[in-house]
Amino acid sequence: MALTAKRYTITAALPYTNGPIHIGHLAGVYVPADIYSRYLRAQKKDVAFICGSDEHGVAISIRAKKEGVSPKEIIDKYDGMIRKSFDKLGISFDNYSRTSAPIHHETASDIFSKMHTAGQFVEEVTEQLYDPEAKQYLADRFVTGTCPKCNHTEAYGDQCEQCGSSLNATELINPKSTLSGAEPILKETKHWFLPLDQYEDFMKEWVIEGHKEDWKPNVYGQVKSWVDEGLRPRAVTRDLDWGIPVPVEGADGKVLYVWFDAPIGYISSTKEWAAKNNKDWEPYWKDKETSLVHFIGKDNIVFHCIIFPCILKAAGDYILPENVPANEFLNLEGNKISTSKNWAVWLHEYLEEFPGQEDVLRYVLTANAPETKDNDFTWKDFQARNNNELVAIFGNFINRVSVLTQKYYDGSVPARKNQTPEDKEALEKMKAFPAIIGDSIERFRFREASQELMNLARLGNKYLADQEPWKIIKIDPTRVETIMNIALQIAATLATVSEPFLPHSAQKLRTILNITNPTEWNAVATTEDLLVAGHVIGSQELLFAKVEDSSIQAQLERLQDTKKNNAEANFELTPVKENISFDQFNAMDLRTGTVIEAEKIKKTKKLLNLKVDLGFEIRTIVSGIAESYTPEEMIGKKVTVLANLASRTIKGVESQGMLLMTENKEGKLIVIGPEDASIDNGFEIN
Ligand code: MF3
Ligand code: ZN
Repeated sequence: MALTAKRYTITAALPYTNGPIHIGHLAGVYVPADIYSRYLRAQKKDVAFICGSDEHGVAISIRAKKEGVSPKEIIDKYDGMIRKSFDKLGISFDNYSRTSAPIHHETASDIFSKMHTAGQFVEEVTEQLYDPEAKQYLADRFVTGTCPKCNHTEAYGDQCEQCGSSLNATELINPKSTLSGAEPILKETKHWFLPLDQYEDFMKEWVIEGHKEDWKPNVYGQVKSWVDEGLRPRAVTRDLDWGIPVPVEGADGKVLYVWFDAPIGYISSTKEWAAKNNKDWEPYWKDKETSLVHFIGKDNIVFHCIIFPCILKAAGDYILPENVPANEFLNLEGNKISTSKNWAVWLHEYLEEFPGQEDVLRYVLTANAPETKDNDFTWKDFQARNNNELVAIFGNFINRVSVLTQKYYDGSVPARKNQTPEDKEALEKMKAFPAIIGDSIERFRFREASQELMNLARLGNKYLADQEPWKIIKIDPTRVETIMNIALQIAATLATVSEPFLPHSAQKLRTILNITNPTEWNAVATTEDLLVAGHVIGSQELLFAKVEDSSIQAQLERLQDTKKNNAEANFELTPVKENISFDQFNAMDLRTGTVIEAEKIKKTKKLLNLKVDLGFEIRTIVSGIAESYTPEEMIGKKVTVLANLASRTIKGVESQGMLLMTENKEGKLIVIGPEDASIDNGFEIN
């Protein structure tokens, strides 16, 4: 593939300012978008990398209500926080705007008005869900219910996050207001609909026929299934007080649907950027020779591949996205990342806890990106990727090169003399890497690209290990000049091709090598002398630092605490069961007993094999308490036993009864025994 477009408009999904950024957002959207944009700049392309805060919508109103403050306070707080952390991580937006900015309100209103005048909406009075307690219409995240497509019970009024379907609130089964918990009623209201049904032919031609080959299968497949099911008109206005007022008569108290205005935020952010830089924004959105690429997560596919393109088409003279490389989701330690459950690694916290290690997070999230399927982030993997790859391969190579160059030549690059076949091979391989890595990036295969980057560092390491300059120096110092020259060229190549992935480390590496300007990507392929003989490199420093076990342990403990807190917060008493008769109660034979032996049942997590003294006999009882009690803790314990329970064989052991127990808020089982430990075994309890 070649980069043939005249200019590139690269967008990254506008984050909602209802919370901070976490690793899921980064891996799915911002890190790949940044790598792509930095790569294009290294190719000397004309790039506008555009983003901003998504500040309307119900998610923000809900957060504001929860914290008891105004929506404005919420968006200011998180917009500030998000900007700062993106900046520290080195996400190189050309512009980061906000949808609360006047330029955005103007742009979105304008597009709506033009479409309205051109008769591109259908105005209709329909019955919508209404919360009689909160006295408010319910749509989007103000209402949850069962998804009509997949039966997921927590689908939102505009979308089911389980199956990805885009929904209308009235389609939900058993809808429930998230404001009051009330069951909504139906009430008439007027709205403006985008008649997506009229765009079916357009969608078929543009995506189904036109992008079968070049869009990622997960993206193409989702779009195709929606189009195959038939597109329905979609309301693009809402009865809400937070948002952009609908700019037509008779629309008092109504605002634009957040998914109508937010993607237009890409355009307003581009305008803001152009104004600041004395440029014309229009070619970035209207010139056919511009390549528009949207980086998003998979839950945004319908909005970026169907709704927004239909708006762009309706609005006239806009270009359409050339590609929408949506990623799947990243999980954390085996569980779905969740803002409300605080199950996440928050970017602002990471940046404080791992200062100077911004690139480590970028690297791990790239090497493990959820490109084709959901993936798991684990702290152990984070540590291993850092210590075994960044430190042991990349960092180690650079360290050897700079230390030896200082030691043998006072930092001055030696000249290449006679070259052996191995030398030539190393140089040839080195020169091939920019194209290999670039090709992967151009195909949106960032994981693969990051591994090729590491392969270049491996090449350098292996070359030095094979040539052993530290041995040869004693017998043939001239030969070592050639070896070190080649190793230095590989180091300089790394400084260029690592930049999109590891911008902070690439900068550090340029300092180590005393390279003032980043080298153009393609120059690496055409010259073997990125560093000329006689160039004096900078002083030596370590490129990457080890991540110690203790920092990983601290992170894992924090996640454990989160789990515990969630279990406590979600704790609810179970409802009382149906009544039983006195005779049924009397039929149970409950006895006091003492545990005299206990051992774990092999190959199980939860089971203990107990011997319980009931006074008149000793019983074997298999109990599922091994996660709450060790065998040692059980021995000697006074317990209550249901003694006439029919025996059952569990994992090959016949269990002759059951211990009474309860569970505390954190899910730990607690054995219920007689309060007075002096009571003898075998006494009946009634
Ligand atoms: N705020 C949305 C989300 O986090 C993404 C908006 S993307 C845009 O899911 F195109 F609407 F801007
Ligand atoms: Zn669903």
